[in-house]
Amino acid sequence: MTFCEYRPGLEGIPATQSSISFVDGQRGILEYRGIGIEELALNSTFLETSYLLIWGNLPSKEELAEFEHEIRYHRRLKYRIRDMMKCFPESGHPMDALQACAAALGLFYSRRALDDPDYIRNAVVRLLAKIPTMVAAFQLMRKGNDPVQPRDDLDYAANFLYMLNEQEPDPLAAHIFDICLTLHAEHTINASTFSAMVTASTLTDPYGVIASAVGTLAGPLHGGANEEVIFMLEEIGSIDKVEAYLDKCMQNKSKIMGFGHRVYKVKDPRATILQELAEQLFEKFGGDEYYEIAVALEKAVEERLGQKGIYPNVDFYSGLVYRKLGIPTDLFTPVFAIARTAGWLAHWKEQLAENRIFRPTQIYTGSRNAPYVPIEKRQSAQDQELLGLVSG
Ligand code: ACO
Repeated sequence: MTFCEYRPGLEGIPATQSSISFVDGQRGILEYRGIGIEELALNSTFLETSYLLIWGNLPSKEELAEFEHEIRYHRRLKYRIRDMMKCFPESGHPMDALQACAAALGLFYSRRALDDPDYIRNAVVRLLAKIPTMVAAFQLMRKGNDPVQPRDDLDYAANFLYMLNEQEPDPLAAHIFDICLTLHAEHTINASTFSAMVTASTLTDPYGVIASAVGTLAGPLHGGANEEVIFMLEEIGSIDKVEAYLDKCMQNKSKIMGFGHRVYKVKDPRATILQELAEQLFEKFGGDEYYEIAVALEKAVEERLGQKGIYPNVDFYSGLVYRKLGIPTDLFTPVFAIARTAGWLAHWKEQLAENRIFRPTQIYTGSRNAPYVPIEKRQSAQDQELLGLVSG
């Protein structure tokens, strides 16, 4: 066995071989199955892109129509899932609600037949179809309302906005939301995708795979950063306070939310597209008080940290788009999860095709051959600290 150097966060260590997406972090390139993200954002739809990611090729007209039809048919939630959701605390975070709901699907579809293509197809369809309904249902239920049933005459993006806001969205808003989903659908092996792959490698059910990925996406260093960006812009409050805010961050060595990326050392190509989408929305529906602050912050961060490769990531402008679409701040990450379900499912399928359970190694740093001290002879950690036996 070859021993490698320990790299915190597994930086630069290949953990799989994949043909799903490609990132060139130096040149700001992102491709799904070889097709540039800009081209997909312009010409494709989220469901067509999901098909591409999961099955590896763009669908024919008939294949796409069938896929869309299946997804429409499976959008509704079982009444027991809705009943379960009624017991969730209204103050709970929607990502926790989504994680619980995704895992609960496994109770209803418990037959695990990972070598049956129909089982795989049904799981893909159910997860893509039901996750948006779960996110919208939790939003209405926590306000004390009944969830809105999906509408079969609306496409994927329009239906979600309809279920969320209880009114049919403007076509431009629905179109822009669909592009947002495409932009967030996949991104090589980031933390949540890796989590999905590790779970998949145990050959558990796909609902458990997606639930574990949702839990991982929720953290503020990953998908949760889109919420934090809005809190940060709120805290800054006006353009003239941008420099002082940055001074404070540098002094405290705190991270500026929505900036920096393990792979991108230039502006994330998705951030560039999201900024354009935000501007289109502002032109039609009026501006956002935080946009100018965001642009000023981007400029100031570039001046101070550009040489370190710190530029806006996907989370920086997405929140401003979602705000304009009437999406509450704490639903930004669940919306990210709706989109990323496509990528997680693609990696689940790829993992199953050539599976080996993940079982990395570790470098042990603890003590060896330590004596077992009987409980009556043990000192509390505080006492030991006072005696200088352990460091605080
Ligand atoms: N603000 C200020 N400095 C930063 C930032 C930031 N947002 N991001 C990185 N840096 C600096 C670090 O302080 C560090 O500097 P040093 O070498 O002088 O100590 C250097 O850049 C490397 O940073 P790391 O944290 O080691 O980079 P890593 O690859 O581990 O982390 C991450 C990447 C987590 C995205 C980080 O940039 C970050 O915390 N950003 C803010 C949170 C965020 O926006 N997350 C969303 C990422 S996109 C996504 O997950 C969908």
